[in-house]
Amino acid sequence: MKLELAPSVLSADFGRLAEQVREAEAAGADRIHVDVMDGHFVPNLSMGPQVLAAVRRATNLTVEAHLMVERPELFIEAFVQAGADVIEVQVEATYQLHRVLTRIAGLGKRAAVALNPATPVESLTEVLPYVTEINVMTVEPGFGGQAFIPSSPDKIRRVRALAPDLDIEVDGGVDDRTAVLVREAGANVLVAGSFVFSHPGGILGGLEALREALG
Ligand code: DX5
Ligand code: ZN
Repeated sequence: MKLELAPSVLSADFGRLAEQVREAEAAGADRIHVDVMDGHFVPNLSMGPQVLAAVRRATNLTVEAHLMVERPELFIEAFVQAGADVIEVQVEATYQLHRVLTRIAGLGKRAAVALNPATPVESLTEVLPYVTEINVMTVEPGFGGQAFIPSSPDKIRRVRALAPDLDIEVDGGVDDRTAVLVREAGANVLVAGSFVFSHPGGILGGLEALREALG
């Protein structure tokens, strides 16, 4: 499966957001990951559709909305309107997962699910036909810069066995060391926030360090 690097703008300098997105594109990023938090599903607030629309205007890359919000069904249209190409819903956040995934697909966008660290892999079984991608969270969602949960590669292996043909994304604590572990375990889309945006070599240096580590 094609390796893709997805910088998370949660760790970007918001005062220069468009510029940093353009820099990430020029540095060879494959997608831009936008983390949406509501202060309920996770204990933090971040950005909404207007910020995603600003990211959309700055790039031609795939833009993905990672919805860490309760009742994501309330916000699907807004993120489609804002220009998201992929919409990721946390399986824990809705009572109507099938409906929300088919609605995303019905609006012509790629539907994805995200699993919190404590959510079992088996929770995917019934929704696999409706998604193009699975985001295996490798930290408890809510903040950038947290430590990678060491048991994650084993979980990624089990997700890969269930879904040999889908994109498997990892999100949280990805750096030049953990990137290698998750890639070996079968992930192919790597989200990285603080490693890329706080790298001493800038965004280009961060993406190059990841690519170099991954060979
Ligand atoms: C965490 C978010 C991540 C975050 C990752 O809740 O979903 O996308 O930006 O940040 P790092 O790479 O710094 O762990
Ligand atoms: Zn995310």
